[in-house]
Amino acid sequence: MSLENIDLNKTIDLRDNAQKRDKKSLKKENLIETGTVLTETHKIYKFPDNFLWGTSTSAYQVEGGIKNDWSEWEKSPTRKEFLEKKGEDPSEFQTGKFCDSYNRYEEDFDAAVDLGTNSIRFGVEWARIEPKKDTWNIEVIKHYREMLKNAKERGFVVVLTIWHWTNPVWIAKDGGWANSKTVDYYFRYAELVVKELGVYVDYFVTINEPMVHVANGYLSAKFPPNRRNPYLAFKAFNNLVKAHNKIYKIAHEYFPGAKVGITGLVNYIQPAHSWNPIEVLFAKIFHYFWNHLFFKKIKKNMDYVGVDYYFHDKIVWYPPFRKNDNLKINDMGWEIYPEGIYHVLKYLNKFGKPIFVMENGIPDAQDDKRSDFIKNHLFYVHKAIKDGVNVNGYFYWSLLDNFEWAAGWAPKFGLVAVDRKTGERKIKRSALAYKEICESNELKI
Ligand code: BGC
Repeated sequence: MSLENIDLNKTIDLRDNAQKRDKKSLKKENLIETGTVLTETHKIYKFPDNFLWGTSTSAYQVEGGIKNDWSEWEKSPTRKEFLEKKGEDPSEFQTGKFCDSYNRYEEDFDAAVDLGTNSIRFGVEWARIEPKKDTWNIEVIKHYREMLKNAKERGFVVVLTIWHWTNPVWIAKDGGWANSKTVDYYFRYAELVVKELGVYVDYFVTINEPMVHVANGYLSAKFPPNRRNPYLAFKAFNNLVKAHNKIYKIAHEYFPGAKVGITGLVNYIQPAHSWNPIEVLFAKIFHYFWNHLFFKKIKKNMDYVGVDYYFHDKIVWYPPFRKNDNLKINDMGWEIYPEGIYHVLKYLNKFGKPIFVMENGIPDAQDDKRSDFIKNHLFYVHKAIKDGVNVNGYFYWSLLDNFEWAAGWAPKFGLVAVDRKTGERKIKRSALAYKEICESNELKI
């Protein structure tokens, strides 16, 4: 299939209105004046055949009603005190029962079908499957099997996340990922998931963004287990590597054709000033530890590269070492930098595996930035493909407005809004731009 950019010069007879439009509004509508006729100019960027268009969620952020290390932390007196001191309402920072996707997943899948997506990524929750050590909840496995079957019946390519940052309470009490026994515990859990559910799964994500768990859990104390201990961070890192490598092998024994990998939060890291050797060096070091090291450790054991792109980091030589221009920011204050996804994809192509953008999205409560956000990022994804990068799919984060971890319920990442009282799902206006892209397999700008 050709990826050439096609110029679509559609001539519309708009003579009556011609005089009424000023130059600015013409540009906005992609119109140019040619004599007395207005010509519509668009570029169409075609994506490869069989490109995966999807959405992502994680179990803890949408299922509701889960008891695990996160839910316990959210309810802890220290967390509540911390939030109250900041003038926040702690209940807005607790997952509780919402969005109740454990029971309402069919409504979610309906929305994903309406959006024209052909793939879907969601997760299973360890704390539901093994709430107590060695106690396996078979009803939960049956439930997930039904859910996966339902997704397959709708024709979705299914990506299943086995671990997305949350642990059963007993694992956390036993030292979490800093404890090497967790590798074996995870292995038993993941093996059960693969064995029991694998028949409905096209891609397994064994671990979501290990570096975020290591950094926020063991260095900055932002996420459970809220530690600041580089030694524990080092141990957790190694244990996550081991866990992935171990399950990778067994997954292929159960399903020789299985596609198994992880997702990494890969940032576009660059020196703020390319003439400053210290900043160049720091940017290289950050890139190595944040983006590269985990992939390097598992590179023989991955069938694809999963990438989550949200951040651009301009590195300066002085603390806090990051100074972005922030010309455009989202509701959480993160810089919007679409070009970065191009550089990240170019770098990841070095691993020589099919690449999937497993997450990319924006918190945008007003819903007035999302459609441009998606289009601008996809423009650079397309550019990467045109330049030979093996990108096979794009999953928008997120299908639903969901629980944004330590930031609670306020950030609105979803293509679909969820009514906080009734749980009713409603497709947002901005999602229609994504729908058009998914259905046509092309980007028009
Ligand atoms: C995580 C998601 C999270 C999203 C937005 C990703 O790093 O995998 O769980 O909601 O970022 O912060």
